[in-house]
Amino acid sequence: MLYKITQYNPTTKILIWKITESFDELFSQVILKEKTLDRLQSMKSEVHKRAFLSVRKLLQESRHNDLQLHYDQFGKPHLENETHISITHSFDFSAIILSDENVGIDIELRREKIILIANKFVDNSEFGFLDKKKEEDYVSRLTVIWGVKEAIFKIRNEKGISFKDHIFVAPFEMKDQKTKALLTFGNLNIEFDICFEEIENYTLVYAFQKGNR
Ligand SMILES: CC(C)(COP(=O)(O)OP(=O)(O)OC[C@H]1O[C@@H](n2cnc3c(N)ncnc32)[C@H](O)[C@@H]1OP(=O)(O)O)[C@@H](O)C(=O)NCCC(=O)NCCS
Repeated sequence: MLYKITQYNPTTKILIWKITESFDELFSQVILKEKTLDRLQSMKSEVHKRAFLSVRKLLQESRHNDLQLHYDQFGKPHLENETHISITHSFDFSAIILSDENVGIDIELRREKIILIANKFVDNSEFGFLDKKKEEDYVSRLTVIWGVKEAIFKIRNEKGISFKDHIFVAPFEMKDQKTKALLTFGNLNIEFDICFEEIENYTLVYAFQKGNR
């Protein structure tokens, strides 16, 4: 079911789907091109198939459709017109962001096991503002940091970007629902505005690239 549409600004919309329907139900409600049908058929997991179809439902909700959606060689989605699109799905939820700006989106299920991999993607400057002793807040904030880095990776899509060494998230509290981030990679120094929110047991993050590079 359509969970929420956020008109973030005049040219940016976020659409969220809660995947409650069966495969057949979703399949009967979407128009798919041949290439998409092939990809759907090649997917092994039912959960993945339903998520994939729910993204097509979101496209149709936003007056776009699967025929206008194309993927580049890296798997990054593009729409035929000028609008930027980014796609995410995780178990029960999927989301898309559509914008005139260069944007990325990520949704993640919050899990305690993120603590075990924190040192793989969190830089020391970020550990500096995290409080490991408040466990629930620690998991929430780690999940935001992970989501920020995934969303920025989806915007830039450059080979060699390391979440820990090249993307830095500015200090934030969960109540802020906003922060900033910096990608420092080769000669590039790019800033991003970040928004985040918790939806049930999930964390949604979206990033806007500042400037036109
Ligand atoms: C590509 C990647 C960003 C996808 O993220 P994910 O969390 O696995 O999955 P999500 O559901 O959030 O996103 C999947 C969607 O991202 C989009 N996507 C895939 N590859 C992409 C790329 N290279 N650039 C932008 N978007 C991409 C697709 O739309 C895809 O969904 P679809 O194929 O069904 O349309 C991720 O797999 C990846 O490679 N991340 C970088 C890994 C990394 O550096 N990790 C460091 C760990 S320390």
